[in-house]
Amino acid sequence: MEKNSNNTLSVTDNRTGKQYVIPIEDGAVAAKSLRNIKVSDSDFGLMSYDPAFMNTASCKSRITYIDGDKGILRYRGYPIEQLAERSNYLEVAYLILHGELPTGVELKEWTYHITHHTFIHENVKKFIDGFHHDAHPMGMLVSTIAALSTFYPDAKEIFDPELRGKQVYRLIAKMPTLAAFAYRHSTGMPYVYPDNELSYTGNFLNMMFKMTEPRYAPDPTLEHALSVLFILHADHEQNCSTNAMRSIASSHVDPFSAVAGAAAALYGPLHGGANEAVLRMLKEIGSKDRVPQYIKRVKEGEVRLMGFGHRVYKNYDPRARIIKGVAYDVFEVTGKNPVLDIALELERIALEDDYFVSRKLYPNVDFYSGIIYQAMGLPVDMFPVLFAIARTSGWLAQWEEMLLDGEQKIARPRQLYLGSDQRDYVPMESRTADKSASLAAAISNKGD
Ligand code: CMC
Repeated sequence: MEKNSNNTLSVTDNRTGKQYVIPIEDGAVAAKSLRNIKVSDSDFGLMSYDPAFMNTASCKSRITYIDGDKGILRYRGYPIEQLAERSNYLEVAYLILHGELPTGVELKEWTYHITHHTFIHENVKKFIDGFHHDAHPMGMLVSTIAALSTFYPDAKEIFDPELRGKQVYRLIAKMPTLAAFAYRHSTGMPYVYPDNELSYTGNFLNMMFKMTEPRYAPDPTLEHALSVLFILHADHEQNCSTNAMRSIASSHVDPFSAVAGAAAALYGPLHGGANEAVLRMLKEIGSKDRVPQYIKRVKEGEVRLMGFGHRVYKNYDPRARIIKGVAYDVFEVTGKNPVLDIALELERIALEDDYFVSRKLYPNVDFYSGIIYQAMGLPVDMFPVLFAIARTSGWLAQWEEMLLDGEQKIARPRQLYLGSDQRDYVPMESRTADKSASLAAAISNKGD
């Protein structure tokens, strides 16, 4: 992170022969400075083209630092390894949101507030009741988070710091409740209300698994493992869902609506849905001896190796390394998940194969997380939901940072228009068969 405000970039425009000096700040040129590069006064100016933001910083941030080549991840400067080993999820959520580790008093107060916002309005249960028994819990979660915005109209007051803080409590506190209620609905079991005496993850396990016992006592190893997994998923700078969070919230909508949108972005199999896809893949492979056959299909481009590869990490994802360690602690309690052997064999073969080595494809956070969740008794379709619970603190920290950043405005990218130039409307009887056939084909290709 070299900082030298005297750095500049000199550009010669071969169209005009003009020279431009563009400042480099924090290792980047401002895309807007390219607008000065014009062939004439009426020219709009040069734009940068960057589909999928491959090389564009959309914001300045002080929350999470990643060095993808070295496999480094830090929240507010603290290495993820230290936080995973020594902290707990709520303390890390505080750190991510406030920038500093809490004092004892601050942590107590923070934990008190989160714990005392875990209940959801009884009407929310009616929404959940309306879903089919086999509804995907992520669909239920996305819908019920959005529904919460209607219960808290004060959430629209996004520039009131106190009210903003209140929505932060509410969202972090209620996500596990919504998630657990969605799960209980899918199993046909009665909802379990939050237990304020338990830790954040202990209470989540309580709401998921409590049966007839008067008081649920979470297994401390599983409670701790879940806390570590939540820490590892708490933030990851400008990924797809965080970008969605910032983009949606840049219209100044309330944070419940924005988190619902971020969770929807997370749902996809290339992002937070990958942990679910990994388990389905391992099930499809079925046994260790069928791994080479599957790797062959991956190399032929028929399927992707889920849980492998990352836009930023071109080295072992540090989160995957920590998770692999946690897995063995969990298996001590639950017994080994039989799919672990298939996963280890996949990793072993992939890390020796030139296809993966040359593309720098390593296991990511999702490769092992699902194996642990499954061993803990959590159903596969709950995996992205667990990711969403943990990522809520990160989304909210990024939201606040964006709102308070004087350089940010409503997100509104440009495009390079390559479509038809102006043309006149063609009456139906004058349209050629060819054109309507290709239109019909285009419509049917969009799927249903
Ligand atoms: N299996 C097989 N080939 C892959 C994979 C994979 N999982 N990932 C990337 N590649 C290949 C890809 O085909 C391409 O090859 P070529 O250069 O020959 O065209 C090359 O590697 C670069 O891939 P890319 O698609 O340009 O990379 P990207 O940065 O756009 O995609 C990714 C990143 C995570 C979407 C992708 O690696 C992937 O689809 N992985 C599987 C899904 C997954 O595990 N997602 C979880 C990500 S981590 C948790 C999170 O933050 O959500």
